[in-house]
Amino acid sequence: MDELTKPFRTICVVLSLIVLCKCTKYEPNWASLDSRPLPAWYDDSKIGIFLHWGVFSVPSFKSEWFWKYWRGGNPEIVKYMDRNYRPDFTYADFAPSFTADLFNPEEWAEIFEAAGARYVVLTTKHHEGFTNWPSNHSFNWNSMDVGPKRDIVGELSTAIRKNTDIHFGVYHSMFEWFNPMFLNDQKNGFQTRNFPQLVNNYRPDVIWSDGSWLAADTYWQSPEFLAWLYNDSPVKDTVVVNDRWGNNTNCKHGGFLSCSDRYNPGKLQKRKWENAFNIDKHSWGHRRDAVLSQLMTMEEIMAQLVSTISCGGNVLINVGPTKDGRIVPIFEERLRDLGAWLKLNGEAIYSTRPWTYQNDTVTPHVCPTPTSSTRVTLLGYEGPLTWSQASTSQGINVAVPLIPFNVMPCKYAWVLKFENLA
Ligand SMILES: *[C@@H]1O[C@H](CO)[C@@H](O)[C@H](O)[C@H]1NC(C)=O
Ligand SMILES: *[C@@H]1O[C@H](CO)[C@@H](O)[C@H](O)[C@H]1NC(C)=O
Ligand SMILES: *[C@@H]1O[C@H](CO)[C@@H](O)[C@H](O)[C@H]1NC(C)=O
Repeated sequence: MDELTKPFRTICVVLSLIVLCKCTKYEPNWASLDSRPLPAWYDDSKIGIFLHWGVFSVPSFKSEWFWKYWRGGNPEIVKYMDRNYRPDFTYADFAPSFTADLFNPEEWAEIFEAAGARYVVLTTKHHEGFTNWPSNHSFNWNSMDVGPKRDIVGELSTAIRKNTDIHFGVYHSMFEWFNPMFLNDQKNGFQTRNFPQLVNNYRPDVIWSDGSWLAADTYWQSPEFLAWLYNDSPVKDTVVVNDRWGNNTNCKHGGFLSCSDRYNPGKLQKRKWENAFNIDKHSWGHRRDAVLSQLMTMEEIMAQLVSTISCGGNVLINVGPTKDGRIVPIFEERLRDLGAWLKLNGEAIYSTRPWTYQNDTVTPHVCPTPTSSTRVTLLGYEGPLTWSQASTSQGINVAVPLIPFNVMPCKYAWVLKFENLA
């Protein structure tokens, strides 16, 4: 560099730094907040595990909405309570039985890693209002004061970080059904702000907000919170959030779009989205009345996985732990089966980008266009497969070998890999 341009260059560098700093300051409005690029780890991760755990895990009957349904007079729940509990038993009386006495966060971390999950999202507070950490906004209705007598959020986040590369995330419901503190809050305007504590204490990489349908984003002060989160919080560079920030934001504003539960649009989407689904089709929380036919099979889980990833989404697969802190073996088996499949076929999932076409049944023979240097392999099977140009213009016929069952590379779904060796 000659002496004349040197100072000029320095000025340019300084100027561009100023511009960069200015660009990354987010304002508390959606135009600004929505312009934040999603941290890349989230799209690359593809697979997360969702955990619904709380006082509802004690009755573990029908649904994690047990309290709401009971108060609403659901006949099955009313009958169940009449038969099994004294007449003046209240929902709060369940809390001491949320023992978590067999909860070993290191064991959970091992299962999630074996499942191939790259992030985990734990309910820190569901609509019942009970917090799984010692929130000072939830006096006597948190996991340190009643039940476990432990900081569940702290223990799980610590174990996951210590033992794995999995990103830790928190689910949090703004709204609460019957908690007097929340109802009082509602009368006086929104007061309860758990988010700063959650973020500062546990540094989550995902904030999965829920229960915001009661009121608009402005009531919950969501834009102000997100501006702080993106500009000044300790997780500003890594955190991703969903879209449930008020009754006017779902499927529109925020980070990735979670839209409705079990959202799977079946088409390539412009924005990053997530399909949150529960292995127990009837409940997100553990449910003792579940029967096998109500649980998703591996084939059903794989169908969700493949259709979601191909259309640009992530999957967030839910299991509900028991009140004593176990992930029951049938759920553990589903997760480990998924992990075994991903171990072999992960290159078709992690860090992938959607292809031009998502469904070969709808648009046959367009993917991919072969050349003389095309090589086709089946993941987990040795050697290239033979193929020929299809009679239609761009298609390819692949001769899939007849592989004996006992040497099949995997179960449920098979991945053909097309490479251009030129
Ligand atoms: C709760 O703790 C936070 C710090 O984490 C503090 O700023 C706040 O004043 C406390 N609130 C109450 C009600 O004690
Ligand atoms: C959203 O909540 C606000 C109260 O904050 C209410 O006035 C408005 O009607 C609600 N909008 C919808 C679409 O439910
Ligand atoms: C692909 O399209 C076919 C025909 O419309 C449909 O039956 C099938 O469910 C689709 N597959 C996926 C994974 O969406």
